[in-house]
Amino acid sequence: MCGIVGYVGSEAALPVLMAGLTSLTYRGYDSAGVAVLDGSTLQVVKCAGKVADLAARLADSPLSGSTGIGHTRWATHGEPSDVNAHPHIDTRGDFAVVHNGIFENSSDLRERLRAQGCLIRSQTDTELFAHLVSLHYRGDFEAAVKAALAEVKGSFALVVASRFHPSTLIAAKLDTPPLVIGIGAGEMFVSSDISSLMRFTKRVVILEDGEMAVLTPKNVLVDLFRAEPVVGRRRPANERVLSVDWPADIAERGGYPHFMLKEIEEQPRAIRDTLRDRLLEDGRVAIEDFTLAPATVRRARRVIFLSCGTAYHAGLVGQYLFEPILNLPVQVEIASEFRYRQPVIGLDDLVVAISQSGETADTVSAVRRVQERGATVVAITNVIGSTLSRVADHVLFTRAGPEIAVASTKAFTAQLVAVHLLLRYLAQYRPHQHEKLLYQLGLGLRQLDGVVEQVLQRTATIQAFAAQLASHEDVYFIGRNLDEPIAREGSLKLKEISYIHSEAYPAGELKHGTLALLSPGTAVIALATQSDIYEKMVSNIQEVLARKAWVTALVPEDESELEAMGVGTLRVPRVNDLLAPVPNVVTLQLLAYHCGVARGCEIDQPRNLAKSVTVE
Ligand code: M6R
Repeated sequence: MCGIVGYVGSEAALPVLMAGLTSLTYRGYDSAGVAVLDGSTLQVVKCAGKVADLAARLADSPLSGSTGIGHTRWATHGEPSDVNAHPHIDTRGDFAVVHNGIFENSSDLRERLRAQGCLIRSQTDTELFAHLVSLHYRGDFEAAVKAALAEVKGSFALVVASRFHPSTLIAAKLDTPPLVIGIGAGEMFVSSDISSLMRFTKRVVILEDGEMAVLTPKNVLVDLFRAEPVVGRRRPANERVLSVDWPADIAERGGYPHFMLKEIEEQPRAIRDTLRDRLLEDGRVAIEDFTLAPATVRRARRVIFLSCGTAYHAGLVGQYLFEPILNLPVQVEIASEFRYRQPVIGLDDLVVAISQSGETADTVSAVRRVQERGATVVAITNVIGSTLSRVADHVLFTRAGPEIAVASTKAFTAQLVAVHLLLRYLAQYRPHQHEKLLYQLGLGLRQLDGVVEQVLQRTATIQAFAAQLASHEDVYFIGRNLDEPIAREGSLKLKEISYIHSEAYPAGELKHGTLALLSPGTAVIALATQSDIYEKMVSNIQEVLARKAWVTALVPEDESELEAMGVGTLRVPRVNDLLAPVPNVVTLQLLAYHCGVARGCEIDQPRNLAKSVTVE
């Protein structure tokens, strides 16, 4: 994915574009660029590297003009380089384009455009769009962009500027990549996300699938470019304006060295917000605008969790919670695999799709597939207006606030809380015998923010352990029951942030092969917080110790058996086993963070990764 920004108004465009790009760097950071119109002169500056590298290039010769577009890239077509950086221009430099997503028919287009005499400078699919607009241009900018849009296939968001129309930008969106228009007074903005607009305007319009928007300083006209039967309909954007009440600095670090640390520390608030007004005094759950009918809940014969990466781990936790309490079979599926299978899906399947961004292409496509087969889809997502929130039949929003660091932290704990809320909602409409357990879990959920505060107070201990772990090159995380998905999440966090090779296993599975990799000094982090299976976990730890591995166990604070055996421990607050994933994962997030810092890694923007993955 990539970050797109655009401005048309009466102020200098460049500072707006650079501020927008700075807050969008989480979306891609291998190259960046801007195009600014000064009258009919189209000026483009772009380079490989980060937004700071672009700023350095612009320092000596800032571009003047009050219309412009900008981009921060995560490479898909063509390596990160100056020439592949966006914006891209047509042969004569009349049109400039920034783009997020993929044109699937780019090979055919490239050949055709070359044959037609276009000078193609980059390896990107984006550049082809600039040539298409130019070839279709007969004096009507909007018509030319629309004609070009009719020739591309795929999933994309883009913005086009033209030196023939210095006070106009045209934006368009198809499928998952998001595009939001910011409405100002005598100025308009366009961006890949809402939070980056908050310092300029709180009034936004979310562009829908198949729509294009024509932005001028005083007006935005939204039109469909690809949808029957209402092509040509023009709807004033002011009929769909949302007011977003977020602080202007929501996309800023606020004094923290990294967004990741800020977001880890925001977790008590994210938990409180996600529960607010939803977990009622009597333990029942009321979710605003949640339309899942009791009859659909009663009819459900199976639950399928669908997601990717960290959100997949939230689904795994959900499986451990839902199966015993709802007495329903539960499947947990990685969306990128599931979407290409031929799964047997029916009307009685309740699919729970989890995605922080709501943009993940694999998750959205998998959801569309199960909907075609009649399943009901509940989305758990953090982003209002995201594709997933619009495609799903019912939506439960996490309220973690914008998550900027690539490594997901507060969105994950908010997802765990949302999974608990959904469990309780479903339990309200299904026969079960777990009232007492649900009552205890309700009490525990209300105290969860305080539990996370306690973990955050242990940062110094975790940091000291991270300093030792940071010199290892291989780490194994093991756990059983609800500790197992959190072992996976801890392992994913560690590899993302510190680039330490790490793997996670169900502890009982080690002896079926992986134990062969353990040698004296190999680091093993053993999660031992599940009381039912604690003794089995102790046995697994002994197996590892017998191979002279360097073991550290995550244990509840009142547990001392392992310490007595000489095992190093990281203590976590004692909570109900079913809530333990939350304090456990916060501990492992801090561990990964401090390992990454100790190793001098790029914390918020790990190499090769982007915040959300809008390509397959
Ligand atoms: O936006 P999503 O929750 O759908 O994203 C899914 C994964 O790409 C994401 O969780 C990824 O694994 C994170 N970088 C993990 O920290």
